[in-house]
Amino acid sequence: SASSTADGVAVVGSGLIGRSWAMLFASGGFRVKLYDIEQQQVTGALDTIRKEMKLLEQSGALKGSLGAEEQLALISGCSDLREAVEGTVHIQECVPENLELKQQLFAQLDQIVDGNVVLSSSSSCLLPSKLFAGLVHVRQCLVAHPVNPPYHVPLVELVPHPETAPATMARTYALMRQIGQSPVRILKEVDGFALNRLQYALIGEAWRLVEARIVSPGDLDLVMSDGLGLRYAFIGPLETMHLNAEGMLSYCDRYREGMKRVLKTFGPIPEFSGAVAEKVHQAMCVKVPDDPEHLSARREWRDGCLMRLAKLKGQVQPP
Ligand code: NAI
Repeated sequence: SASSTADGVAVVGSGLIGRSWAMLFASGGFRVKLYDIEQQQVTGALDTIRKEMKLLEQSGALKGSLGAEEQLALISGCSDLREAVEGTVHIQECVPENLELKQQLFAQLDQIVDGNVVLSSSSSCLLPSKLFAGLVHVRQCLVAHPVNPPYHVPLVELVPHPETAPATMARTYALMRQIGQSPVRILKEVDGFALNRLQYALIGEAWRLVEARIVSPGDLDLVMSDGLGLRYAFIGPLETMHLNAEGMLSYCDRYREGMKRVLKTFGPIPEFSGAVAEKVHQAMCVKVPDDPEHLSARREWRDGCLMRLAKLKGQVQPP
């Protein structure tokens, strides 16, 4: 059968992100072993994955060329780490964002694995130089940082340790493409990688504009969701520059002085606390009250939007 010949992947940690990775790898036809220190997390994961895949199939949004049942047959739970990683080509670590915990786990994996498997961490903000320090298999290690929700947002940031082998980056890049994700190479590690550095630049200026009472919190979000965000789903900030003049150099000639003038007026790092935090919180709660029901209903709506956007993006790829 397909499942006995397919390459194997291990997902270590069966929470929110581990579940998404399991579904993505199965969509690409990989055999997936799901492991967790909490057995009920694995059971819960298998249960949620089954429900989600059925829903995705019904709505025509299931990824990959296999049906939901075929993909589900590729995923199995495992309560022994050694057994979970045995014979796999890729191990995706998805345990909580805690440096000591992840270091312990990678030290454990370092003793089990051979020289072929890739050891990949989902960490959002821990640096590879910290995560993989001193490992024998450091050449096989990297961070592959997904974006929530990974099933609907394809970007994955690949971040190497200074000693990561180029082949490890290349193999992981190819694997991500194979499961329909969109990998980018971060050429050397930096705090926040690329996505969070851009995100925090935006959040920082959003906060300063609200704090200075230049714009209300609701209108601030509209600047993105009804303005910049629409084009950013298709072209990035650099291509935007290129298209908004007669090419990039023309844009720089025209707007360089204006950009530099405005950039000089950016304020200091906000505290993200106190009265301003209260004010922003109140404003957000008008639209989405912060009880679990309203929050999860809004997240479901967001995921539905992202799913439809992904479909649209698939239809509008340029020649
Ligand atoms: P989570 O809390 O939902 O899941 C973590 C799982 O790891 C739990 O099931 C827990 O039982 C298990 N676990 C704890 N210690 C373990 C061990 N020693 N061995 C095996 N399993 C263990 O966390 P979540 O949100 O899935 O995050 C996982 C990683 O993904 C973190 O590094 C996080 O920074 C990263 N990430 C999270 C995103 C998010 O939006 N939640 C987005 C991108 C990355």
